[in-house]
Amino acid sequence: MEKQRLQFPKGFLWGAATAGHQIEGNNVNSDWWAWEHGQMRENALRKEGKNPAQFYSGIACDSFNRFDEDFGLAQYLNHNATRLSIEWARIEPREGEYNEKALDHYEKVLQSAKFHGFTTFVTLHHFTSPLWFARKGGFAEQQNIDHFVRYVKLATKRLSQYTDFWLTFNEPEIYSNLGFLRGRFPPQIKSVRIMLRVIRNIISAHNLCSEYIRHEIRQPVSIAYHLSDLQPTGFFGHLSAGLAHYIANRYILSRTINACDFIGVNYYFHHHIGLFGKRGKSQSGHEETDLGWGIHPEGLERVLTSLIKYKKPIYITENGLADAHDTKREKFIKDHLYFAHRAIKKGADVRGYLYWSLIDNFEWDMGYGPRFGLIAINRESLLERKIRYSALKYGEICKNNYLEY
Ligand code: FCB
Repeated sequence: MEKQRLQFPKGFLWGAATAGHQIEGNNVNSDWWAWEHGQMRENALRKEGKNPAQFYSGIACDSFNRFDEDFGLAQYLNHNATRLSIEWARIEPREGEYNEKALDHYEKVLQSAKFHGFTTFVTLHHFTSPLWFARKGGFAEQQNIDHFVRYVKLATKRLSQYTDFWLTFNEPEIYSNLGFLRGRFPPQIKSVRIMLRVIRNIISAHNLCSEYIRHEIRQPVSIAYHLSDLQPTGFFGHLSAGLAHYIANRYILSRTINACDFIGVNYYFHHHIGLFGKRGKSQSGHEETDLGWGIHPEGLERVLTSLIKYKKPIYITENGLADAHDTKREKFIKDHLYFAHRAIKKGADVRGYLYWSLIDNFEWDMGYGPRFGLIAINRESLLERKIRYSALKYGEICKNNYLEY
């Protein structure tokens, strides 16, 4: 069959996303660093027969020092946008003590991003907090919201010159769920009550920060929401899928959307929901990533079109897969873009796509095993960067602003 040329809107943003703790290295004042080195974590890993040393973020990709090299590669790959996060734990390593050097550093990072020609998305909180903040109860305590707001005011003011889009939080849905309900991420709490408090406080924190960023900084702000495609299956499936959709995709969004200028979408999952919740891993005939996550590009169209009613620009702030051998990535990206394009034709105001991730990095509690990068990192050889074939193919799309499909 002859290929069609799917043109993306003029000015479409193309790039990749990263997060501070996952790439910078030595984020020593953060709650994650403390957790990685804590007894509880180390014992749990040993019990599973794993070596804790392989699960420290350590030097990560050393992007704290190599950011300019990383941006240079992204530019070579024809990206015109980038998403990164700044580490609150570096900027305020101890309560009320702001580190000018850290702010200077991020200024340099963003200057470099601009030098390489990127529109910049800056996340203010991507799963990690300063240890002192976590010790005070973090977002589980209402009185702590002010600490976050103070940091956000300082950072946004200081870095606004080189920032185009702000994201207050990355995936509050996942952050609250894995850290405070399922006990997978620090602080490993398992409590519905505490999770709900965290959600409530994050919503307030976002709304307060957004107020400031919109009116004082006068720049667009949003959240990188974790949105999944949840499809009903079986008897009563509609009822449960509706409920699951509300809890997973809409509870936080509906309470923060008025304080957003655009919608950040992180899309990874499609699930079938039966009467008693999730059913099966993926539909038959669908491929899986190295992590066993089903690949469902068609779900992205449904997620995007379900957002049309909010009448806001949409940026896909994350979408990607773990694929160490790079056998599925090119198709994965093209398929997702095909369905994003269909959503655009149906009226979704999608204005950008940021692949997760630019480089292989520290995948939280899973360590360095999963390889999400457009660029491979050789951990045995001085963290050498090597562009994957799929990255070149994605680079062609970025350059053309169209997809041959
Ligand atoms: C998302 C996170 C990101 C990365 C990808 C694989 O949920 O935002 O940091 O871990 O998953």
